[in-house]
Amino acid sequence: MPIDYSQKIPNNVQLADDRTLQRALEQWQPNFIQWWDDVGPDESAKLDVYLRTATSVDPQGWAHFDYVKMRDYRWGIFLNPAEADRKIHFGDHLGEAAWQDVPGEHRANLRRIIVTQGDTEPASVEQQRHLGLTAPSLYDLRNLFQVNVEEGRHLWAMVYLLQKYFGRDGREEAGALLERTSGDENNPRILGAFNEKTPDWLAFFMFTYFTDRDGKFQLAALSESAFDPLARTTKFMLTEEAHHMFVGESGVSRVLQRTAQVMNELKTDDADKVRAAGAIDLATLQRYLNFHYSVTIDLFGADQSSNAATFYSSGLKGRFEEGKRADDHVLKGQTYKVLEVQNGQLVEKDVPMLNALNEVLRDDFIKDSVAGVGRWNKVLEKAGVPQRLVVPHKAFNRKIGALAGIRMSPEGRVVGEDEWRAHEGEWLPTAADRAFVASLMGRVVEPGKFAGWIAPPAVGINRQPVDFEYVRFG
Ligand SMILES: [Fe+2]
Ligand SMILES: [Fe+2]
Repeated sequence: MPIDYSQKIPNNVQLADDRTLQRALEQWQPNFIQWWDDVGPDESAKLDVYLRTATSVDPQGWAHFDYVKMRDYRWGIFLNPAEADRKIHFGDHLGEAAWQDVPGEHRANLRRIIVTQGDTEPASVEQQRHLGLTAPSLYDLRNLFQVNVEEGRHLWAMVYLLQKYFGRDGREEAGALLERTSGDENNPRILGAFNEKTPDWLAFFMFTYFTDRDGKFQLAALSESAFDPLARTTKFMLTEEAHHMFVGESGVSRVLQRTAQVMNELKTDDADKVRAAGAIDLATLQRYLNFHYSVTIDLFGADQSSNAATFYSSGLKGRFEEGKRADDHVLKGQTYKVLEVQNGQLVEKDVPMLNALNEVLRDDFIKDSVAGVGRWNKVLEKAGVPQRLVVPHKAFNRKIGALAGIRMSPEGRVVGEDEWRAHEGEWLPTAADRAFVASLMGRVVEPGKFAGWIAPPAVGINRQPVDFEYVRFG
């Protein structure tokens, strides 16, 4: 199904045939633009940005690249094609036909799932809104803006579901998604990590590496849903999410490349000397990693959760790659290991797997994250630098679940309050780290030029050269 761009709201869902929905979305659209103007990318209204826009949902060639002003971006509604006779493939309804509408008994839970996912999308735009002013190159500025417009589109994806399938409640929730604001004391975003600041570009790269990867795993689990419109819309969102994680992974790789280069030139691993040369020392990179990793794994929720069991058994949310798993897809009577602290020691205990599905998804995320950190270490290895980045223990710095509030070293040793206080500044970014990183941030706008703390990418976007004018200042 091609995307119809002649409509006010581009879509591939034959929106013109549903006048009520079309009207509801057209009423929401100006509020969305107002939100973008108010809390979207700072001072970006006049910029012409070389962005990709979806032209079809076909995996080959869905993207069209051109200069656009971001507020004129064609945000719309794009669902993957329906699979004929799709069946529910997990939970208590296994083998029944997938739902084309919301069953009454699952309405409240589905709405909650969609609202929670939808809330993260505008939140990240708000968190990243000041970064354009300190972009290390035009290439990076363009990538930031691409991520921002696509998070805006992800909001559209969730608002479409709310407006089409949840009637009046859905319309109210769609409005509320534009009212909560990241970090707002009175009306914050729903999830903790989405109220944290993304104050500098190192934080942005760590965020897109780790937190957008949480997005990947949540969307992948929802793409298994018995509620077919949710499955189809999240499948298309996943194709956009891949770019966000690329921005994070390649961003940190390029920072490491530059740091290793400075270390080699100066023949030093002394953090102060590396900093004095204008690069980010490895210890600071490790602390940023520890922070973003631990905050992100909290997003998967409590390690034991009866909601997680309900969402799975009723078919609302599957596991990552549910279809590829060789078990009964019902999971009754199966167990899974979770961690808890007993007598000052971390111990594993078996719990019913259905209740541990947040932990299952967290562990899948961890595997995927660790793999990318291994690729970062290849950059150091290639440069002949012996130090390595490591992912902290999953019990480190947790705020949610059975491990919340337990003082733990990054290696996973339970520590007392005194030891924690003595080492916190080695384990998590300090105010001085953040001030140092902030001191490096300054806007570089000449095509092909890069700030001194980051290496240029190997290749440009859409086969354009690295010194292409990715953003034009009008
Ligand atoms: Fe997103
Ligand atoms: Fe994303």
